Amino acid sequence: MIRIAPSLLAADFGHLAQQIAEAEQGGADWIHIDVMDGRFVPNITFGPALVRSVRKYTKLPLDVHLMVEDADNFISPFCAAGADIITVHQESCLHLYRTIQAIKESGSKAGVALNPATPVDTLKNIIKEIDLVLIMTVEPGFGAQQFIRNSLQKIQEMREMINFSKKEIFLEIDGGVDRDTAADVINAGANVLVAGTSIFKADSIQAAISSLRTASTK
Ligand code: DX5
Ligand code: ZN
Repeated sequence: MIRIAPSLLAADFGHLAQQIAEAEQGGADWIHIDVMDGRFVPNITFGPALVRSVRKYTKLPLDVHLMVEDADNFISPFCAAGADIITVHQESCLHLYRTIQAIKESGSKAGVALNPATPVDTLKNIIKEIDLVLIMTVEPGFGAQQFIRNSLQKIQEMREMINFSKKEIFLEIDGGVDRDTAADVINAGANVLVAGTSIFKADSIQAAISSLRTASTK
């Protein structure tokens, strides 16, 4: 089953509740929330207050992607705000095992994200501890960037590692996912697609979500 996680980064913030409702009615499975601190990535976005507010407007799982340097400081506030999944970056967590345990102890599912240049092998020794792997297919920090095509092989490698672990671990792809690239990432083994621009900038949010979901069968 493919899950679609629209990224609020590309939504119209003046009508956020309405945009979330449209995504939910249009078949979205999760809501993806990109948290940026201006240090790990050169951009600033949302804090726990936004998550708490969004929590009131949807029943969908909130998939919080932390692009921050001090991830440990933010686990508890985002969990308390209503995050169902908290994903941290491998590159920013010196003590990744401990950070993963802290997320799970706080009651959220734990994800780990890999930048385009970070090999999948960096997760080999902790794969059984995590609930989700997020492969970045653009450099994190901004929406509407071009999909990095040589990520496809990395997705396949991650799929093999996940299958080998015999655990149910989501394989989520983030960056430049649209109706053309969706088929390739699904065929490579992804089962969660994050998409900002291709959903919220489309004429129809519902049609955009459907076309992503069925991409692999076309
Ligand atoms: C980028 C974010 C993405 C972003 C994707 O740093 O992690 O979630 O919203 O945007 P699109 O789908 O426009 O590439
Ligand atoms: Zn993201």
